[in-house]
Amino acid sequence: MERRALLEAFGDRISLPSLPEVVLRINAAIENSAVGAAQIGRIAAEDPAITARVLRLANSPFYGLREPVTSAERAVTVIGARALRNVAMQCSIVKRYEHLRELPDFDLDELWRHLVLTAQLAHSIGSAADRRCQLNPDDLYACGLLHDVGKVVILDALTDEYLECLRISARTASPLHDAERRILGFSHIEVGVLLARQWQLPEKVAQAIEFHHGPTRAIHEHPHVGVVAIADQLAYRAGGETFDSAVLRLAKVAERCLGLEPGAFSALAEQVREADFEALG
Ligand SMILES: [Fe+2]
Ligand SMILES: [Fe+2]
Repeated sequence: MERRALLEAFGDRISLPSLPEVVLRINAAIENSAVGAAQIGRIAAEDPAITARVLRLANSPFYGLREPVTSAERAVTVIGARALRNVAMQCSIVKRYEHLRELPDFDLDELWRHLVLTAQLAHSIGSAADRRCQLNPDDLYACGLLHDVGKVVILDALTDEYLECLRISARTASPLHDAERRILGFSHIEVGVLLARQWQLPEKVAQAIEFHHGPTRAIHEHPHVGVVAIADQLAYRAGGETFDSAVLRLAKVAERCLGLEPGAFSALAEQVREADFEALG
């Protein structure tokens, strides 16, 4: 999708959230190989909210450190610059849309849970099949985090119309993006693509967002697209009655497009059953 065509589709009805300057500088530093991790940590340290989240992550059992990490500079060397960027993006998205929690007909927490779970699954699936993916696991995490973020961007700008999209999609049991296109002329997919580009993420992140609902050909042809589409489907069914049948079906897709053994995929999916993920916020 061309940026110009996307902008024409939205007109001036949507304003994309801008990233805080600190996060833009972190993004630019990641792309500049001359900038070291400690320097990226010093940029992050300028923002207390980001620093607090980064320290919490670096000191989590996942990294199993003996000595607690107490500075952002050191934390970046533990979690990596791209994971730091993900934390910073999470912080700014949550802060920007927190006011939507007041809406009576929209469950903001449910969307945040879905985004984080999809991001974590995309990271795990990508790590298990990393040789065949064209994005590293931390960039796949960013894809999961942003794949449906267009929903809150639209909800914020066009609240009544978007709530109507949600109602129609629920009433007709049809995909939300179809209702969005019918009523608004665009969907959360196009908004997400434009946002990923505006935030200067790798183009493959935008591509994974663009095809997370299909077509099947795109999912099968591009492993990073497949990872995000599979993670999205699995996250939607987590805790639901159709989870087991979804795992069986998705295991076949994962084997075909990522070369993941069905047993390895099922083991990974099992982690979702008792998903203990760190919620946004
Ligand atoms: Fe979606
Ligand atoms: Fe989704």
